[in-house]
Amino acid sequence: MNKKIIIGNWKMNPQNTKEAEKLFNDTTKSLYNIKKTEIIICPPYLYLDKLNKISLSSRAKKVKKVYLGAQNVFQGNTGAHTGEISVKMLYEMGIKYVILGHSERRNTEMGIGENNNDINQKIKSVFSFNIIPILCVGENFRDEKHKYLEFIKTQLEQGLDKVPKNLISKLIVAYEPIWAIGKKAERPATSSEFLEIKIFIKKVLSDKFGIKNIEGLRVIYGGSIYEDDVSMFLKEGQVDGFLLGRNSLDVEKFTKIANIVENENS
Ligand code: 13P
Repeated sequence: MNKKIIIGNWKMNPQNTKEAEKLFNDTTKSLYNIKKTEIIICPPYLYLDKLNKISLSSRAKKVKKVYLGAQNVFQGNTGAHTGEISVKMLYEMGIKYVILGHSERRNTEMGIGENNNDINQKIKSVFSFNIIPILCVGENFRDEKHKYLEFIKTQLEQGLDKVPKNLISKLIVAYEPIWAIGKKAERPATSSEFLEIKIFIKKVLSDKFGIKNIEGLRVIYGGSIYEDDVSMFLKEGQVDGFLLGRNSLDVEKFTKIANIVENENS
């Protein structure tokens, strides 16, 4: 069975290196008893190197070994791309995970309007360096005719086009319905809404890649997750983990969620 995974997406927080170090150190200390659950922190690029070094040097101390992930990457390896960060740079730094296709980057108003084709190129590039992509998918709203399923299917099919079949089981797919993300969200998805999508994602990928049962693939959930929802998602939603936004910036809440996942998993 795959390890459950909790990913903290710090988004554009905190505002300086000192605070980032403190948040990271407090988190790893607070999670010292987490053994079976994999934890990944995705800070802004600026803090990645420093936090990765802290993580590597902290092995002997009473802290949780936490992996570092990036929140995005550019598809090309080198060259004239002002303001971009390449996969090779992340690889050289020892980064193991990258979030791709987050709705805040797909967004055409506040984001940069990333489309499925951009995300597809990034996924292929990331895999070629043995880094694990965390592919975010999810609809803006749910319609009665279930068109949102088509929307998610397209995100998966185009986003994973021509990705080698043997790599699919390594992928992490995060179902993040846009309507459930952030302060303005009315509610998180329910565990049954999640389970429906998890089954659907596995079916779309099985059909596309001709794999009967994609064993290693992990489908996680993100969007307004608080500790009260966690058990239900684990028991009834068969969730493989969580992608947390706001609550990854709150050490106490993050720790509570991690402990529930750890304990339910025994
Ligand atoms: P919130 O947990 O703040 O709703 O954010 C979810 C998210 O977008 C994680 O990537």
